[in-house]
Amino acid sequence: MDVPAAFFDAFMYPLETGSLGTRRARLLPGVSGVVLEVGAGTGVNLAYYPCEGLEDLYVMDLSVSQRVYHRSDDGCLNPTILEGDVQHLPFEDGFFDTVVFTLVFCSVENPERGLAEVRRVLKPDGRIIFIEHVLPEGKPVLRSSFRAITPMWKHISGNCHLDRDTLSSIRGAGFEIDSLERFANGIMIAGTGHKADRQV
Ligand SMILES: C[S@@+](CC[C@H](N)C(=O)[O-])C[C@H]1O[C@@H](n2cnc3c(N)ncnc32)[C@H](O)[C@@H]1O
Repeated sequence: MDVPAAFFDAFMYPLETGSLGTRRARLLPGVSGVVLEVGAGTGVNLAYYPCEGLEDLYVMDLSVSQRVYHRSDDGCLNPTILEGDVQHLPFEDGFFDTVVFTLVFCSVENPERGLAEVRRVLKPDGRIIFIEHVLPEGKPVLRSSFRAITPMWKHISGNCHLDRDTLSSIRGAGFEIDSLERFANGIMIAGTGHKADRQV
């Protein structure tokens, strides 16, 4: 068995059955067209994609967990599963209607580079769907704790940085936010966005 994947799913279980699962269930059933999910992890999102309206689903990770294959066996989706780096996406410009990333940009080495690639492969009217954890606003104790813990935490958690302001990175990469929800005491954000006219 894929032990780190099993451990990750067990660790996340309380959140998945609570606030995180609720956001996945709110955001993902509405995706349509040609869809790319980057940083799929253990494939938790596969349970939330719709059978209808989804033309093609590509599921990518730096290293694909066996759980992604198992989870995609069950349903109607028949995704294309591939290994790849969001910082160097192997797709032509404007290929996707939707790009999904959930809990990914905390661990991408260069998030600006990865988000620029997401923007590049999106159609002009394409959209992003995201859930990320961030430094919470207006919570100085939490913020300084997250900053203090990150140098140690990233070594035991697959490069997960607790101290990133991923919402600013998304905006900075040239996206406008259409919907945004902060939850889990402001540590998590969930939302949708589209390409801004020009890179800001
Ligand atoms: C915390 S897991 C999140 C998994 C899943 N998206 C979820 O919502 O539970 C982060 C995933 O991002 C992947 N990842 C990190 N850097 C990446 C990169 N540069 N390109 C593609 N995937 C990456 C990791 O391999 C890991 O599977």
